[in-house]
Amino acid sequence: MEDKAITPSLNNNSTQTDTVSILKVWGKQPLQGHVRISGAKNSALAIMAGTLLCPQDCRLRNIPDLMDIKRMCQILEALGVKLQRQDDILEIDASSVGCSQAPYELVSQLRASFFAIGPLLARLGIARVPLPGGCAIGARPVDLHVRGLQAMGANVRIEHGIVHANVKGGRSRLQGASIYLDYPSVGATETLMMAATLAEGETILENAAQEPEVVDLANFCRAMGAKIRGAGTNTIMIDGVPRLHSVDYTIVPDRIEAGTFLVAGAIAQSEISLSPAIPDHLTPVIAKLREIGPEVVMDSPNRMRVIPRPLQATDIKTLPYPGFPTDMQAQFMALLTLAEGNSIITETVFENRLRHVAELNRMGADIRIKGQNAIVRGVPMISGAPVMATDLRASAALVLAGLAADGMTIVKGLHHLDRGYDGFENKLRQLGARLERVSVQADENNSISSNSAQTITSLG
Ligand code: UD1
Repeated sequence: MEDKAITPSLNNNSTQTDTVSILKVWGKQPLQGHVRISGAKNSALAIMAGTLLCPQDCRLRNIPDLMDIKRMCQILEALGVKLQRQDDILEIDASSVGCSQAPYELVSQLRASFFAIGPLLARLGIARVPLPGGCAIGARPVDLHVRGLQAMGANVRIEHGIVHANVKGGRSRLQGASIYLDYPSVGATETLMMAATLAEGETILENAAQEPEVVDLANFCRAMGAKIRGAGTNTIMIDGVPRLHSVDYTIVPDRIEAGTFLVAGAIAQSEISLSPAIPDHLTPVIAKLREIGPEVVMDSPNRMRVIPRPLQATDIKTLPYPGFPTDMQAQFMALLTLAEGNSIITETVFENRLRHVAELNRMGADIRIKGQNAIVRGVPMISGAPVMATDLRASAALVLAGLAADGMTIVKGLHHLDRGYDGFENKLRQLGARLERVSVQADENNSISSNSAQTITSLG
């Protein structure tokens, strides 16, 4: 295929003629076959920010085809980075990155773009990044990122919604520091780890996030010559080096996409297989699936199969890795809706991440919210209804519920789905699901609207 420069559209699911896309899902179709899992969105986003550290060319492989990735490309371009994409390979030349500011409209739609502050500051000694926005997502603070950078010798001030950072005292490099994170934030760990790669001296990050995407980012930085130990544990040690070099790096498979397809098989009572996937990354997801009933078998080291079984209620609490991922909470809620008995799902990572409850209830689920808990009373069946996706993973959960429902489900708010799932509908269709994306007039769309108020723009 011909090389092509990236000219992504920022079209938010609506066109100039005021049409929007909706997804019709006809339930109760059996699934079978195999699905190919794409590269991990959250790894790819952090690693793309990480290329800002490098004054030479970087080649990234296994980049998923997603709106979030296109937005990140646009943000990097606004900072002076040159990009070329061919299939799932992204060539990145950040040699002439400048200290221009990433546009607010883009940063506000992609929280991960804030992670660029660490590499920019480390490489240029100065960075200006708008605060990631979104009143619908609660506070979503970046205090841990900021406090860590300050500990490494940065002056940070926030003016008119923009974070201005520069290395203190006329120095050119950040200083290594001992940093304890009050919470093992994925983004803060990534920001500070990237910043520390080019700092003077050793940085120790304690209570660091242990997510596989943090490890992937560390491996990427190491491949560029960074000295990082301990990624994947709660203490990461980084010895700063003066300069990093060019790299050719392959992103790990997306554990959340893999988990979503395991739930697809379980909820559609169908046996399907998937690869590539790293079983260790899916330990909490597979353990919960087995507790609920479905079996997951390993056909080979990176290929697994879900075998459907009757569904039993269980309790789930989202936690930082290696706990159960918040990014799988909505999909498991859809599954537990149809389990025998009562389940309690506790969301501890994000406030405001239970908005899909109202939508699942529209389909006949019996779920009540009490604080951070959703109490799911299993029902024998659900039925298709118009529903509104309220964030990325909720959108997948509603499609999954649609696969199991009687009749047709209409899922709106597809810009959430397009943010983070590479070819979701096509992959499901290849497995035998019956779904169709259609454009409708915005008015018509409103008339099939559910009563959901705000939706969440940047939850991962
Ligand atoms: C990343 C993932 C997202 C996933 C989340 C948790 C990316 C691009 N996104 O998001 O898909 O759901 O991890 O696994 O990788 N917090 C603070 N102060 C901070 C930073 C975070 O209080 O400075 C809080 C957040 O508000 C939230 C919690 O910490 O309540 C977890 O956030 P964090 O781990 O930082 O998530 P993200 O990196 O934004």
